[in-house]
Amino acid sequence: MISAEAIAKAAKQLARGELVAFPTETVYGLGADARQPDAVAQIFARKARPRFDPLIVHLKNREAANAYADTRDPRFWRLSERFWPGPLSLILPKKASIPDLVTAGHPSVALRVPRHPIAQALLEAFDGPIAAPSANRFGCVSPTCAEAVSEQLGSDLTVLDGGPAEVGLESTIVSLLGETPELLRPGGIPEEEIEAVIGKIHRPGEEELQSLSPGRQKRHYATQTPLYFWGDRGAPEPASDVGELHFGKPDRPSSPGPVRQLSQAGDPKEAAARLFQAMRELDKLDLRAILADKLPETGIGTAVMDRLRRAQAAASDEGEITCS
Ligand code: TXA
Ligand code: MG
Repeated sequence: MISAEAIAKAAKQLARGELVAFPTETVYGLGADARQPDAVAQIFARKARPRFDPLIVHLKNREAANAYADTRDPRFWRLSERFWPGPLSLILPKKASIPDLVTAGHPSVALRVPRHPIAQALLEAFDGPIAAPSANRFGCVSPTCAEAVSEQLGSDLTVLDGGPAEVGLESTIVSLLGETPELLRPGGIPEEEIEAVIGKIHRPGEEELQSLSPGRQKRHYATQTPLYFWGDRGAPEPASDVGELHFGKPDRPSSPGPVRQLSQAGDPKEAAARLFQAMRELDKLDLRAILADKLPETGIGTAVMDRLRRAQAAASDEGEITCS
């Protein structure tokens, strides 16, 4: 466990305008004081993230939201009551206290209260808003452990080590800007549970999504190794240099290549928690390709499939990215 001194030191670093990576229940975040544009600029530089992609602002509790956003929307209070602290980000009209750099010039801001005890302790000690994207290089797989952060972003960065992330993929993002709420990213809280609180949510198609949420590229969460679903056109046959990402117990004969099984019991929650780590592990084996199972798209299975589809889209794209 991280000491109180380490938390206090990290809070001071944030106050000085430095970056600190910290664990949340979803993935590790790369944090900076959201009120200091120079500090926020370092986030974009360190991640090689384009400036058009806005950041999520992390808060210690929901009352803190009043200082940074227009919180008059009753849906905000109903959702934050039910799901905060936790893996849900809510988009509201922003106030002038949040610099434009944080929101990439948008008049709205994404807010989230994380439930990881180290994230909460850091927010408490810092006593201010922390802008934090996932602590990976832009377009790459999000880090679910401290080592993955250092590998991608450099060993000189302060990383608070909170062990493996519990949820394993990012927060669900819901925009409350319009009359009908919109799902900008499936994630840690299944959208069915959100609909039970505020009614029907609109799920924008891929095209609409690009205009609503600038960071939601079709190609993202990319492994360096091309990833395919079983049965995809162009997918390789199983071979010793083809990795396999199994959801539960496979119904196929034994695999000649390296295998990562996401959940022995076929539990989508467990699969979500293990997904990014398994992708990273297979990616390090210098394989020709990775073959992935599909999951049923209900509950958190929707978020797992969203990440896998984007990783697959990256495989069929020519652009090169370097993730470590
Ligand atoms: O679980 C999480 O949400 C993690 C942890 C660290 O909290 N953070 C995270 O941040 O995933 P990031 O930057 O990797 O993803 C944030 C997404 C981006 O796709 C961005 O486009 C979207 O949130 N976003 C942020 N502010 C927005 C806004 N005002 N309007 C629309 N989309 C926004
Ligand atoms: Mg990210």
